[in-house]
Amino acid sequence: MHRFQNIAVLGSGTMGHGIAMLLAANGLQVSIYDPSSEALAAARRHIAAKLPSLETGHNGVQPQLADTIRYTANLQEAAADADLIFEAVPERIEIKRELFGRLETMVKQTAVIASNTSSYSLETLIEGRKFADRMIIAHFFNPAHLVPLVELVRHAAVPAAIVEEVAALLRDCGKTPVILQKDIPGFIANRLQAAVLREASYLLACGVADAKQIDLAMTAGPGLRWALNGPFEIADFGGLDVWEKVCASLFPKLSGEDSAPAVIREKVSEGKLGIKSGEGIFPYDREEGAGLPGLVEAREQALQRMLRAKQN
Ligand SMILES: NC(=O)c1ccc[n+]([C@@H]2O[C@H](COP(=O)([O-])OP(=O)(O)OC[C@H]3O[C@@H](n4cnc5c(N)ncnc54)[C@H](O)[C@@H]3O)[C@@H](O)[C@H]2O)c1
Repeated sequence: MHRFQNIAVLGSGTMGHGIAMLLAANGLQVSIYDPSSEALAAARRHIAAKLPSLETGHNGVQPQLADTIRYTANLQEAAADADLIFEAVPERIEIKRELFGRLETMVKQTAVIASNTSSYSLETLIEGRKFADRMIIAHFFNPAHLVPLVELVRHAAVPAAIVEEVAALLRDCGKTPVILQKDIPGFIANRLQAAVLREASYLLACGVADAKQIDLAMTAGPGLRWALNGPFEIADFGGLDVWEKVCASLFPKLSGEDSAPAVIREKVSEGKLGIKSGEGIFPYDREEGAGLPGLVEAREQALQRMLRAKQN
Protein backbone atom coordinates (compact mmCIF):
# COMPACT_ATOMS: atom_id res chain seq x y z
CA MET A 1 0.00 0.00 0.00
CA HIS A 2 1.61 3.27 -1.08
CA ARG A 3 1.05 6.68 0.42
CA PHE A 4 -0.51 8.22 -2.69
CA GLN A 5 -4.25 7.76 -2.27
CA ASN A 6 -5.57 11.22 -3.12
CA ILE A 7 -4.45 12.40 -6.52
CA ALA A 8 -5.02 15.75 -8.21
CA VAL A 9 -4.73 16.14 -11.96
CA LEU A 10 -4.38 19.76 -13.06
CA GLY A 11 -5.63 20.39 -16.58
CA SER A 12 -8.36 18.18 -18.02
CA GLY A 13 -7.34 18.25 -21.71
CA THR A 14 -5.86 15.53 -23.92
CA MET A 15 -3.37 14.31 -21.32
CA GLY A 16 -5.09 15.26 -18.07
CA HIS A 17 -8.29 13.33 -18.70
CA GLY A 18 -6.32 10.23 -19.74
CA ILE A 19 -4.12 10.32 -16.63
CA ALA A 20 -7.13 10.88 -14.37
CA MET A 21 -9.05 8.02 -15.98
CA LEU A 22 -6.13 5.63 -15.58
CA LEU A 23 -5.74 6.43 -11.87
CA ALA A 24 -9.48 6.29 -11.13
CA ALA A 25 -9.76 2.94 -12.92
CA ASN A 26 -7.14 1.64 -10.51
CA GLY A 27 -9.11 2.59 -7.42
CA LEU A 28 -7.44 5.90 -6.53
CA GLN A 29 -9.36 8.96 -5.39
CA VAL A 30 -8.92 11.48 -8.20
CA SER A 31 -9.79 15.18 -8.50
CA ILE A 32 -9.42 17.02 -11.79
CA TYR A 33 -8.97 20.78 -11.84
CA ASP A 34 -9.42 22.93 -14.91
CA PRO A 35 -10.37 26.62 -15.01
CA SER A 36 -12.53 25.98 -18.08
CA SER A 37 -15.96 24.52 -17.38
CA GLU A 38 -16.19 23.43 -21.05
CA ALA A 39 -12.92 21.51 -20.71
CA LEU A 40 -14.17 19.83 -17.52
CA ALA A 41 -17.45 18.87 -19.20
CA ALA A 42 -15.57 17.44 -22.21
CA ALA A 43 -13.26 15.45 -19.90
CA ARG A 44 -16.28 14.06 -18.05
CA ARG A 45 -17.83 12.96 -21.36
CA HIS A 46 -14.63 11.34 -22.64
CA ILE A 47 -14.00 9.53 -19.36
CA ALA A 48 -17.58 8.26 -19.08
CA ALA A 49 -17.29 6.87 -22.63
CA LYS A 50 -13.86 5.26 -22.27
CA LEU A 51 -13.56 4.16 -18.65
CA PRO A 52 -15.72 1.03 -18.89
CA SER A 53 -13.48 -0.52 -21.56
CA LEU A 54 -10.21 0.32 -19.80
CA GLU A 55 -8.03 -2.59 -18.70
CA THR A 56 -6.75 -1.97 -15.18
CA GLY A 57 -3.29 -2.59 -13.80
CA HIS A 58 -1.89 -5.21 -11.52
CA ASN A 59 -3.98 -4.45 -8.46
CA GLY A 60 -7.00 -6.07 -10.02
CA VAL A 61 -9.47 -3.26 -9.26
CA GLN A 62 -12.24 -3.21 -11.80
CA PRO A 63 -12.96 0.06 -13.58
CA GLN A 64 -14.93 2.25 -11.21
CA LEU A 65 -17.77 4.45 -12.27
CA ALA A 66 -16.60 7.68 -13.83
CA ASP A 67 -18.60 9.35 -11.04
CA THR A 68 -15.88 8.61 -8.48
CA ILE A 69 -13.80 11.40 -10.06
CA ARG A 70 -14.27 14.91 -8.68
CA TYR A 71 -14.32 17.61 -11.38
CA THR A 72 -13.65 21.11 -10.15
CA ALA A 73 -12.76 24.62 -11.31
CA ASN A 74 -11.46 25.36 -7.80
CA LEU A 75 -7.74 24.64 -7.47
CA GLN A 76 -7.79 24.52 -3.68
CA GLU A 77 -10.54 21.90 -3.73
CA ALA A 78 -8.46 19.61 -5.96
CA ALA A 79 -4.97 20.20 -4.57
CA ALA A 80 -5.29 20.78 -0.80
CA ASP A 81 -5.70 17.10 0.17
CA ALA A 82 -3.63 15.64 -2.66
CA ASP A 83 -0.69 13.33 -1.90
CA LEU A 84 0.39 13.44 -5.53
CA ILE A 85 -0.31 16.08 -8.15
CA PHE A 86 -0.01 15.56 -11.90
CA GLU A 87 0.27 18.85 -13.78
CA ALA A 88 -1.04 18.69 -17.37
CA VAL A 89 -1.73 22.34 -18.23
CA PRO A 90 -0.74 23.90 -21.59
CA GLU A 91 2.94 23.82 -22.55
CA ARG A 92 3.55 27.50 -21.72
CA ILE A 93 6.03 28.28 -19.02
CA GLU A 94 4.12 31.32 -17.72
CA ILE A 95 0.98 29.19 -17.20
CA LYS A 96 2.91 26.43 -15.44
CA ARG A 97 4.85 28.91 -13.24
CA GLU A 98 1.71 30.79 -12.23
CA LEU A 99 0.02 27.52 -11.30
CA PHE A 100 3.00 26.26 -9.27
CA GLY A 101 3.13 29.62 -7.46
CA ARG A 102 -0.53 29.25 -6.43
CA LEU A 103 0.02 25.64 -5.43
CA GLU A 104 2.78 26.57 -2.99
CA THR A 105 0.29 28.17 -0.63
CA MET A 106 -2.13 25.26 -0.59
CA VAL A 107 -0.47 21.84 -1.00
CA LYS A 108 0.46 19.43 1.80
CA GLN A 109 4.07 19.56 2.98
CA THR A 110 4.52 15.98 1.81
CA ALA A 111 2.76 16.25 -1.57
CA VAL A 112 4.75 15.27 -4.64
CA ILE A 113 4.29 17.42 -7.75
CA ALA A 114 4.81 15.73 -11.13
CA SER A 115 4.78 17.74 -14.36
CA ASN A 116 3.80 16.17 -17.66
CA THR A 117 5.79 18.75 -19.63
CA SER A 118 7.04 17.67 -23.05
CA SER A 119 9.78 20.23 -23.49
CA TYR A 120 10.76 22.11 -20.32
CA SER A 121 13.63 20.82 -18.23
CA LEU A 122 13.00 20.04 -14.59
CA GLU A 123 15.67 22.65 -13.83
CA THR A 124 13.44 25.30 -15.44
CA LEU A 125 10.29 24.12 -13.66
CA ILE A 126 11.72 23.96 -10.14
CA GLU A 127 13.41 27.38 -10.33
CA GLY A 128 12.46 29.32 -7.19
CA ARG A 129 9.94 26.73 -6.04
CA LYS A 130 9.51 25.94 -2.36
CA PHE A 131 8.65 22.34 -3.24
CA ALA A 132 11.68 21.90 -5.55
CA ASP A 133 12.78 18.87 -3.53
CA ARG A 134 9.42 17.15 -4.16
CA MET A 135 9.02 17.95 -7.84
CA ILE A 136 9.63 15.58 -10.74
CA ILE A 137 8.66 15.16 -14.38
CA ALA A 138 6.27 12.31 -15.19
CA HIS A 139 6.00 12.29 -18.97
CA PHE A 140 3.07 10.24 -20.22
CA PHE A 141 2.36 9.36 -23.84
CA ASN A 142 -0.86 10.11 -25.64
CA PRO A 143 -3.28 8.36 -25.12
CA ALA A 144 -2.11 8.41 -21.51
CA HIS A 145 -4.58 5.77 -20.31
CA LEU A 146 -3.29 3.25 -22.88
CA VAL A 147 0.40 3.73 -23.70
CA PRO A 148 2.37 2.03 -20.89
CA LEU A 149 5.50 4.22 -20.93
CA VAL A 150 5.91 7.04 -18.39
CA GLU A 151 9.33 8.71 -18.32
CA LEU A 152 10.31 9.95 -14.86
CA VAL A 153 12.92 12.67 -14.47
CA ARG A 154 14.55 13.53 -11.17
CA HIS A 155 16.65 16.51 -10.18
CA ALA A 156 19.65 16.08 -7.85
CA ALA A 157 17.67 17.99 -5.17
CA VAL A 158 14.94 15.31 -5.19
CA PRO A 159 15.46 12.15 -3.11
CA ALA A 160 15.59 9.04 -5.32
CA ALA A 161 12.99 7.45 -3.01
CA ILE A 162 10.33 9.91 -4.25
CA VAL A 163 10.78 8.85 -7.87
CA GLU A 164 10.74 5.21 -6.79
CA GLU A 165 7.44 5.76 -4.95
CA VAL A 166 5.83 7.35 -8.01
CA ALA A 167 7.24 4.56 -10.20
CA ALA A 168 5.71 1.95 -7.84
CA LEU A 169 2.30 3.61 -8.03
CA LEU A 170 2.48 3.71 -11.82
CA ARG A 171 3.51 0.06 -11.98
CA ASP A 172 0.48 -0.81 -9.81
CA CYS A 173 -1.62 0.96 -12.43
CA GLY A 174 -0.11 -1.23 -15.17
CA LYS A 175 2.30 1.42 -16.45
CA THR A 176 5.94 0.96 -17.44
CA PRO A 177 7.95 3.74 -15.80
CA VAL A 178 11.45 4.48 -17.10
CA ILE A 179 13.60 6.56 -14.76
CA LEU A 180 16.08 8.97 -16.36
CA GLN A 181 19.33 9.74 -14.57
CA LYS A 182 19.70 13.06 -16.41
CA ASP A 183 17.41 15.99 -17.14
CA ILE A 184 17.73 16.05 -20.96
CA PRO A 185 15.48 17.77 -23.57
CA GLY A 186 13.06 15.32 -25.22
CA PHE A 187 13.78 12.70 -22.55
CA ILE A 188 14.40 9.31 -24.23
CA ALA A 189 11.38 8.38 -26.30
CA ASN A 190 10.80 11.72 -28.03
CA ARG A 191 14.48 11.86 -29.01
CA LEU A 192 14.18 8.41 -30.59
CA GLN A 193 10.94 9.38 -32.37
CA ALA A 194 12.43 12.68 -33.59
CA ALA A 195 15.50 10.87 -34.97
CA VAL A 196 13.21 8.60 -37.00
CA LEU A 197 11.05 11.50 -38.23
CA ARG A 198 14.17 13.40 -39.34
CA GLU A 199 15.35 10.46 -41.41
CA ALA A 200 11.84 9.74 -42.80
CA SER A 201 11.53 13.39 -43.92
CA TYR A 202 14.98 13.22 -45.53
CA LEU A 203 14.04 10.07 -47.48
CA LEU A 204 10.83 11.79 -48.63
CA ALA A 205 12.72 14.96 -49.67
CA CYS A 206 15.24 12.83 -51.63
CA GLY A 207 12.37 11.15 -53.52
CA VAL A 208 13.29 7.66 -52.31
CA ALA A 209 9.59 6.79 -51.81
CA ASP A 210 6.32 8.55 -51.07
CA ALA A 211 5.12 9.14 -47.50
CA LYS A 212 2.77 6.14 -47.55
CA GLN A 213 5.55 3.77 -48.59
CA ILE A 214 7.94 5.19 -46.00
CA ASP A 215 5.33 4.74 -43.26
CA LEU A 216 4.69 1.20 -44.49
CA ALA A 217 8.39 0.36 -44.36
CA MET A 218 8.23 1.28 -40.67
CA THR A 219 4.92 -0.30 -39.60
CA ALA A 220 5.49 -3.55 -41.53
CA GLY A 221 9.11 -3.82 -40.45
CA PRO A 222 11.02 -2.27 -37.56
CA GLY A 223 7.85 -0.90 -35.92
CA LEU A 224 6.47 -4.39 -35.42
CA ARG A 225 9.69 -5.60 -33.81
CA TRP A 226 10.13 -2.49 -31.70
CA ALA A 227 7.02 -3.31 -29.69
CA LEU A 228 8.93 -6.38 -28.48
CA ASN A 229 12.63 -5.45 -28.58
CA GLY A 230 14.32 -2.08 -28.21
CA PRO A 231 17.23 -0.98 -30.43
CA PHE A 232 19.87 -2.65 -28.27
CA GLU A 233 18.13 -6.03 -28.18
CA ILE A 234 17.56 -5.74 -31.92
CA ALA A 235 21.31 -5.19 -32.32
CA ASP A 236 22.01 -8.27 -30.17
CA PHE A 237 19.61 -10.39 -32.24
CA GLY A 238 21.15 -9.19 -35.51
CA GLY A 239 24.72 -9.61 -34.27
CA LEU A 240 26.87 -6.74 -33.07
CA ASP A 241 29.52 -7.49 -35.71
CA VAL A 242 26.85 -6.94 -38.39
CA TRP A 243 25.55 -3.77 -36.74
CA GLU A 244 29.08 -2.44 -36.36
CA LYS A 245 29.45 -2.54 -40.14
CA VAL A 246 25.95 -1.16 -40.78
CA CYS A 247 26.54 1.79 -38.42
CA ALA A 248 29.99 2.54 -39.78
CA SER A 249 28.81 2.68 -43.38
CA LEU A 250 25.35 4.26 -42.81
CA PHE A 251 25.87 6.87 -40.07
CA PRO A 252 27.80 9.27 -42.34
CA LYS A 253 24.95 9.04 -44.88
CA LEU A 254 22.06 9.72 -42.47
CA SER A 255 20.39 13.10 -42.23
CA GLY A 256 22.04 15.57 -39.88
CA GLU A 257 19.35 18.25 -40.48
CA ASP A 258 19.11 20.61 -37.53
CA SER A 259 15.87 22.43 -38.32
CA ALA A 260 12.29 21.15 -38.60
CA PRO A 261 11.76 19.20 -41.86
CA ALA A 262 10.70 21.34 -44.86
CA VAL A 263 7.68 19.09 -45.51
CA ILE A 264 6.36 19.74 -42.00
CA ARG A 265 7.10 23.50 -42.12
CA GLU A 266 5.26 23.81 -45.46
CA LYS A 267 2.18 21.94 -44.24
CA VAL A 268 2.01 24.01 -41.05
CA SER A 269 2.23 27.27 -43.06
CA GLU A 270 -0.75 26.04 -45.13
CA GLY A 271 -2.78 25.30 -41.96
CA LYS A 272 -2.52 21.55 -42.59
CA LEU A 273 -1.85 20.36 -39.04
CA GLY A 274 -2.75 16.68 -39.25
CA ILE A 275 -5.98 14.91 -38.31
CA LYS A 276 -7.17 17.85 -36.20
CA SER A 277 -7.43 20.06 -39.30
CA GLY A 278 -8.54 17.32 -41.69
CA GLU A 279 -5.19 17.20 -43.53
CA GLY A 280 -1.52 16.85 -42.67
CA ILE A 281 1.04 14.76 -44.52
CA PHE A 282 -2.02 12.73 -45.59
CA PRO A 283 -5.61 13.91 -46.24
CA TYR A 284 -8.27 12.76 -43.77
CA ASP A 285 -11.58 12.90 -45.60
CA ARG A 286 -14.22 13.98 -43.11
CA GLU A 287 -17.03 13.33 -45.59
CA GLU A 288 -16.29 9.64 -45.87
CA GLY A 289 -14.55 8.93 -42.59
CA ALA A 290 -15.82 9.29 -39.07
CA GLY A 291 -13.94 12.58 -38.52
CA LEU A 292 -11.42 13.32 -35.80
CA PRO A 293 -13.26 11.56 -32.91
CA GLY A 294 -13.71 8.46 -35.07
CA LEU A 295 -10.02 8.35 -36.04
CA VAL A 296 -8.92 8.79 -32.42
CA GLU A 297 -11.34 6.12 -31.24
CA ALA A 298 -10.26 3.66 -33.93
CA ARG A 299 -6.61 4.18 -33.00
CA GLU A 300 -7.32 3.69 -29.30
CA GLN A 301 -9.21 0.46 -30.01
CA ALA A 302 -6.33 -0.82 -32.14
CA LEU A 303 -3.84 0.09 -29.38
CA GLN A 304 -5.94 -1.83 -26.85
CA ARG A 305 -5.97 -4.90 -29.11
CA MET A 306 -2.18 -4.71 -29.50
CA LEU A 307 -1.66 -4.34 -25.76
CA ARG A 308 -3.83 -7.39 -25.10
CA ALA A 309 -1.94 -9.39 -27.74
CA LYS A 310 1.38 -8.37 -26.18
CA GLN A 311 0.20 -9.43 -22.70
CA ASN A 312 -0.97 -12.87 -23.92
N1 LIG B 1 -0.78 16.04 -26.21
C1 LIG B 1 0.26 15.23 -26.14
O1 LIG B 1 0.46 14.34 -26.99
C2 LIG B 1 1.22 15.32 -24.97
C3 LIG B 1 2.06 14.22 -24.69
C4 LIG B 1 2.89 14.28 -23.56
C5 LIG B 1 2.92 15.43 -22.78
N2 LIG B 1 2.12 16.50 -23.10
C6 LIG B 1 2.16 17.67 -22.21
O2 LIG B 1 1.03 17.62 -21.36
C7 LIG B 1 0.63 18.95 -21.01
C8 LIG B 1 -0.83 19.14 -21.40
O3 LIG B 1 -0.96 18.94 -22.79
P1 LIG B 1 -2.37 18.59 -23.46
O4 LIG B 1 -2.07 18.10 -24.83
O5 LIG B 1 -3.20 17.76 -22.54
O6 LIG B 1 -3.01 20.06 -23.55
P2 LIG B 1 -4.54 20.46 -23.76
O7 LIG B 1 -4.53 21.80 -24.40
O8 LIG B 1 -5.31 19.36 -24.40
O9 LIG B 1 -5.09 20.60 -22.25
C9 LIG B 1 -4.67 21.59 -21.39
C10 LIG B 1 -5.80 21.88 -20.42
O10 LIG B 1 -5.31 22.78 -19.43
C11 LIG B 1 -6.34 23.72 -19.13
N3 LIG B 1 -5.73 24.89 -18.53
C12 LIG B 1 -5.38 26.06 -19.09
N4 LIG B 1 -4.84 26.86 -18.13
C13 LIG B 1 -4.85 26.16 -16.99
C14 LIG B 1 -4.45 26.44 -15.65
N5 LIG B 1 -3.90 27.60 -15.33
N6 LIG B 1 -4.65 25.49 -14.71
C15 LIG B 1 -5.19 24.30 -15.03
N7 LIG B 1 -5.59 23.98 -16.27
C16 LIG B 1 -5.42 24.91 -17.22
C17 LIG B 1 -7.05 23.95 -20.44
O11 LIG B 1 -8.38 24.43 -20.21
C18 LIG B 1 -7.02 22.55 -21.06
O12 LIG B 1 -8.19 21.83 -20.70
C19 LIG B 1 1.59 19.88 -21.75
O13 LIG B 1 2.63 20.20 -20.88
C20 LIG B 1 2.09 19.01 -22.90
O14 LIG B 1 3.35 19.41 -23.37
C21 LIG B 1 1.25 16.45 -24.16
